[in-house]
Amino acid sequence: MLVIQGGRVLDPTRGIDQVTDVVIDGGQIARVGPAGDDLRPGAGDRVVDAKGTWVVPGLVDLHVHFREPGHEYKEDIASGLGAAAAGGFTSVCAMPNTSPVNDTRAITEMMCARAREARGTRLYPIAAITRGCKGAELTEMGDLKDAGAIGVSDDGLCVMNAAVMRRALEYAASFDLLVSQHCEDHNLTAGAQMHEGEISTRLGLTGWPRSGEDVIVARDLILAADAGARYHVAHISSARSVELVRAAKDRGLKVTAEVTPHHLMLTHAKLLGYDTACKVNPPLREARDRDALRAALADGTIDCIATDHAPHSELEKDCEFAAAAPGMIGLETTIPVLLELVREEMLTPLRFVEALSSAPARIAKIPGGSLAAGGPADVTVIDPDARWTLRADRVHSRSANTPFLDTEVQGAIRMTLVDGRVVYEA
Ligand code: DOR
Repeated sequence: MLVIQGGRVLDPTRGIDQVTDVVIDGGQIARVGPAGDDLRPGAGDRVVDAKGTWVVPGLVDLHVHFREPGHEYKEDIASGLGAAAAGGFTSVCAMPNTSPVNDTRAITEMMCARAREARGTRLYPIAAITRGCKGAELTEMGDLKDAGAIGVSDDGLCVMNAAVMRRALEYAASFDLLVSQHCEDHNLTAGAQMHEGEISTRLGLTGWPRSGEDVIVARDLILAADAGARYHVAHISSARSVELVRAAKDRGLKVTAEVTPHHLMLTHAKLLGYDTACKVNPPLREARDRDALRAALADGTIDCIATDHAPHSELEKDCEFAAAAPGMIGLETTIPVLLELVREEMLTPLRFVEALSSAPARIAKIPGGSLAAGGPADVTVIDPDARWTLRADRVHSRSANTPFLDTEVQGAIRMTLVDGRVVYEA
C-alpha cells in the first residue's frame, strides 16, 4: 500500500479540490480520503508526505514525437518515456512520423513492445493516415487499431487531398479511431519559416499565413460532419481556427482540439533574434492569437493541452534559420511553464488539471485521467511553488531544444506513478 498524505487532491472528473489523502493498493486507487481503520498503512507500506503539493490524475499527452525507429539519436522510446515520467505524464500518444513511418502493424507493435519493456509511462501509438504520410493511399486502419493504435494522423504533414481526407474520415470512423489533423495547406505555406506578419517582413523570412491553417480546419469540419468521424485539430494556433471550432461545437459536431504550451506562452516576437529554438510548426503567432487560445482553453472550446514534444539535436538546430528543423521539446517544460496561467487566474486549478489529464484521456478513449477508486493508480504529484532554473543538464530527454532553457520557472514534478509504481521521483 502507498498513501500520498495531505496533498491538495484535484480530480476534475468528480469536481474534487480538497486537502486529503490518496490511498493506492494493488496498482489501483483504493480511496481518495483519509486512510481509515480499514486501510491503515502498516510496516512495509509507504507514506508520502504531500503537504503543499497538488495530487492529480497522471498527465496525458495526445501529441509527442519519439524518433524510434529511425532517429534514435534525437530520442528513442525509452528516453522519451523517461522524459514523460519526469514531466509528470503517465500516458503519451506517439505520432507516426518516424523513419520508416508508423504505417504498419509491425511498427505499431514494435513501439508498444518497446514501451512495455521500459515499464514506465504508457505509450499509445497514433499511426499514419496514409502510407508513408504521403497523402495518397490509406493505411490498414483496422490492423493498426488491432496492433494498439488509438488514432491516426499524418502529423508533420497535412492530408491535403480532400477526397483522400474524406475517405480517411469515413474509414477511421468505422473503427472508432481518432483522426488528428496537422492543419496546413502546403500550397499556402510553401517556403514558410515563421508566422506571416510584421516580424516576418522585418526579418525577411517567408511567412505562414493564418489562412494556411484556417482553410484546412474549415474544410475538415465539413468532411468530418458528413463522415461522423472523431476529428481532432492538432496544435491549433490561430484565432480564426478557434472560431471555426467554436462554431462547429455549437452545432454539435464531435470535434476536439489541442493547444501546445508554446502557443499559449510565446509569440512571433521571440523570433526577432532568429532563435531556431522558436522555429516550430505551426509557427508562434501574434498576441491576439495567443490570447484567443488562452480564452478558448479556459472556456473549453479547446479541449486540452498537448506538448507536441519534438526533439531535435544540435545538428538540426545549431544552423542558419532556414535550414533548422521545426519543433521543440515539451514534456518536461509543460508544468513549470504553464502554471503561470493558473497563478494569473487565466485557468482554475481544476480546469488546468482537466486539460492535461481527464480531457485528453477522454478524447483518446484510454484509461486514466481520474482518481476514481478502482481505476489504475496513475498519479502525478506536483509542487506548484518550487522555483528552479531549466538547464540542459537537467533534461531527461535526449534533446534539449527548447527556448525555455536558462529561465527561472515555478512548479516542479515531485513524483509520477503508473499503476501505483513510482516511475519518477525528484
Ligand atoms: O514543429 C513541428 N515539429 N511540427 C510538426 O508538426 C512536426 C514536428 C516534428 O516532427 O519535429
